[in-house]
Amino acid sequence: MKKYPPAYYSDYLGLDKLLSSQELLSKKYDSEAHDEMLFIIVHQAYELWFKQIIHELDSVINMFRHEYIDEVNIGIAVSRLARITDIQKLLIEQLRILETMTSLDFLDFRNFITPASGFQSFQFRLIENKLGLDPTQRTMLNEKGYRSYFAEKHQKQLKESEEQSSLFHLVEKWLERTPFLESEGFNFWESYKKAVITMLDEDKQTIINNPIISEEKRQKELNAHENTRENFRAIFDQDKHDELVHKNLRRMSFRATHAALFIHLYRDQPILQQPFKFLTLLVDIDELMTAWRYRHALMVLRMIGTKIGTGGTSGHDYLKMTVEKSKVYQDLFNMATFFIPRSTLPPLPDDIKKKLGFFYTTQQ
Ligand code: HEM
Repeated sequence: MKKYPPAYYSDYLGLDKLLSSQELLSKKYDSEAHDEMLFIIVHQAYELWFKQIIHELDSVINMFRHEYIDEVNIGIAVSRLARITDIQKLLIEQLRILETMTSLDFLDFRNFITPASGFQSFQFRLIENKLGLDPTQRTMLNEKGYRSYFAEKHQKQLKESEEQSSLFHLVEKWLERTPFLESEGFNFWESYKKAVITMLDEDKQTIINNPIISEEKRQKELNAHENTRENFRAIFDQDKHDELVHKNLRRMSFRATHAALFIHLYRDQPILQQPFKFLTLLVDIDELMTAWRYRHALMVLRMIGTKIGTGGTSGHDYLKMTVEKSKVYQDLFNMATFFIPRSTLPPLPDDIKKKLGFFYTTQQ
């Protein structure tokens, strides 16, 4: 067996460097603030976890760059995305530790750190870009894009990360390639459409016949019902779908949306369980990002009230705005709009199961 030199714990983990990287600005400026150590360590812990998230995301992105993705890789991607969600849960919990620092304690050193801000977290922006945050949805700050608030070396890398295929785009392509959407003798869309129309007609009758609501309420409900019908039209009509994409109300392509819907509706089939888990994890990651953003905005409110941020935004108001504007997988989030009861779904034919490469039979 090959011999390797003995590893030493501290050297292996680079602890000399890591543990000497907490330089308190308050100490440097002869006004040492006890809580600045906590402030630095919490941020550093975040950045370490961001590094791990990027490591996992990059590996999944690399798998999805290929035209053909083996079923085994979907399983690996699922376990890596699940790891990201566990880290994210920890990241939300971690804010609590920072909240043991009071607002007054923060004021002891806040002046020293201006204009640095989490707004300039390079790795956080990389995560957003790799997940597929739409650059046009980003908020301009003083009429400048977020990249201009970074050092030059980071600006370049951020631009590159925007230009590379994000997980969103690769997943969209993967969904578009799924072979089971058209198959001879399998009229899923026809059966689905019929079931949808029956369901919508029944819903409408329920509203019309409801004896306990006022006429005004009935009209409101009928209007809402018409909106639902309109949403469904976009599932059947590519032009309608593209119109919604144009208005930023949908993002995923028509074909990818169909494939995602199909996977959700037929998720009980063993062949679709991993793809279903995969899509669900993307929604989980998006939701946990949103939860972190909201939780961070609340912490900021109790920490600095409605003061502006050290990075120059309006602070809490800006952060509240990014909560809603930063969702990436909105189409997958809203998928439930198009679900119909299992009992109305046409059965999946054998040739489709074969096409997906997850088929075993003892019959000749
Ligand atoms: C005392 C604690 C904190 C305060 C008062 C605070 C405050 C703020 C404020 C006001 C902003 C808006 C940008 C600005 O004007 O500066 C911001 C953005 C941000 N902060 Fe914090 N923050 C704190 C802790 C943290 C921690 C621990 C992290 C973890 C890395 C973090 C990450 C971020 C990120 C990623 C943004 C950008 C959000 C976006 O643009 O969507 N912050 N923070």
